[in-house]
Amino acid sequence: MKAPVDLQSDVGEVLVSEEQIQAKVRELGARISVDYAGRELTLVSVLKGSLPFMADLMRSITVPVRIDLMEVSSYGGTSTESSGLVRILKDLSASIADEDVLLVEDIIDTGLTLNYLVRYLRGKGPASLRICTLLDKPARRLVEIPVDYTGFTIEDRFVVGYGLDFGEFYRNLRYVGVLRPEVYSTPPAIGEPEA
Ligand code: PRP
Repeated sequence: MKAPVDLQSDVGEVLVSEEQIQAKVRELGARISVDYAGRELTLVSVLKGSLPFMADLMRSITVPVRIDLMEVSSYGGTSTESSGLVRILKDLSASIADEDVLLVEDIIDTGLTLNYLVRYLRGKGPASLRICTLLDKPARRLVEIPVDYTGFTIEDRFVVGYGLDFGEFYRNLRYVGVLRPEVYSTPPAIGEPEA
């Protein structure tokens, strides 16, 4: 039988600690609350990676928020390079027409997913659309999109934790860490490796 994934010891380095993440989430929440003062805000998050960030961020925002969730997958690319072709697995559950919308992402890598989502959401006629991401990896950008709220800008390293996965595991780590290379050079327990 295959040994289970060892969450803590598979991580070679903590890149962003739990304390750093929580402080940044509070800071972003405070900025967003000031920027949207006197208004209502609709947070749209993109499953699955954004789940912990969305859950923490929404509780750091003091203006009234609605939430909605989308799930997308890219296809046609390789295991670590997305193709820019995005398939919607779960769509918005309500109209965002005339609403102030903030798109909440865990990471922007090539920018292809975000590029698709921004066009898609703009087509729904929101009053405004801004973007918030916990992590930004600018070294891998293929499409440039202005981001309104960024938590941490990171180098081009393979990161997991706080929502980010490898082979669908490691999402429940409370920090963002770098996997030891020997972990991702062997096949993951389930699913395919992701960027
Ligand atoms: C991640 C992340 C972004 C996207 C960023 O999702 O949540 O949506 O990749 O990559 P890009 O900038 O190169 O398009 P992923 O497809 O890994 O799905 P997941 O959130 O379910 O893990």
